[in-house]
Amino acid sequence: MSDHEFGNVSTDLKLSLVESYLSAFSTALRSQFSELWYIDAFAGTGERVIKHDAVPAGLFPEIEKRVERRRGSAKIALDITPAFDRIVFMEKKRSYCKALEALKAQHPTRRIDVVRGDANTAIEAEIEAVKWTGKRGVMFLDPYGMAVNWSTLERIRATEAIDVWYLVSLAGLFRQATRDRTKIEEKKRAAITRMLGTGEWESVWYNAPIKQDLFGKVDENLQRIADVEAIETFVGNRLSDLFPKVLKPKRLKNAAGLPMFSLFLAISNPNGKAIGLATRIGNSILKS
Ligand SMILES: C[S@@+](CC[C@H](N)C(=O)[O-])C[C@H]1O[C@@H](n2cnc3c(N)ncnc32)[C@H](O)[C@@H]1O
Repeated sequence: MSDHEFGNVSTDLKLSLVESYLSAFSTALRSQFSELWYIDAFAGTGERVIKHDAVPAGLFPEIEKRVERRRGSAKIALDITPAFDRIVFMEKKRSYCKALEALKAQHPTRRIDVVRGDANTAIEAEIEAVKWTGKRGVMFLDPYGMAVNWSTLERIRATEAIDVWYLVSLAGLFRQATRDRTKIEEKKRAAITRMLGTGEWESVWYNAPIKQDLFGKVDENLQRIADVEAIETFVGNRLSDLFPKVLKPKRLKNAAGLPMFSLFLAISNPNGKAIGLATRIGNSILKS
């Protein structure tokens, strides 16, 4: 079975925020809806493996090297009470899907589906054909990088039934949008545009002073002026243009304190009561 080694100091925080929301969501909506679904589009294996190095003896006795296993999002979702009526795990990696199938086998009475493949394709197949009346869902988009297409978010929004927790890689965007605009590779430019659903980021994130010297030579000194803050704001504005409600995200940092991700909660149901409830729960968790 494949071990899934990932995460840093903020991974536990991210998972605990999502867990708190899942728990409050299912408690609040259990009696109002006949079916509550959880869709984990980047599900991993169900476990998070952390390898601790040995610590030689010194002031304290020697600590041997050890492997710690913590719950990943898939196991966390299975533990939620009241239980979700249906859980869908999506995962690209074959060996991780095997681990998810094994997890499913441990819960024979639960309705669990493991879908192998790209999350964008799997989400389209799983949510478009569904009649959402009487159903509500939470989706967790937890990619390593920039794998979620804007068209996928449009599909989620169209359900008017799914609250989505979306981990946006600020570091990924920052890295792909090279400081010098002329150095952005076409593939990277296309990846950012696919993720944000617009090419407008380029004119907002870069200055464009086109100077002419005495000889009429053009100096295109196109430098990125957008910092992490501006990039996060741009993403938040894009999401707010699409979803009826988007909460102020939680910024997640690495061990060195550098901003790596922003965790957004976007609500696709335009109903005022639904927005009110999700906002109250979401804000109490995000601001805690
Ligand atoms: C950050 S990990 C998810 C961790 C998981 N949420 C957890 O808490 O255990 C990202 C996962 O997405 C998978 N993945 C990467 N690209 C994908 C894609 N395009 N579609 C679906 N899964 C993908 C990776 O194999 C990896 O397991």
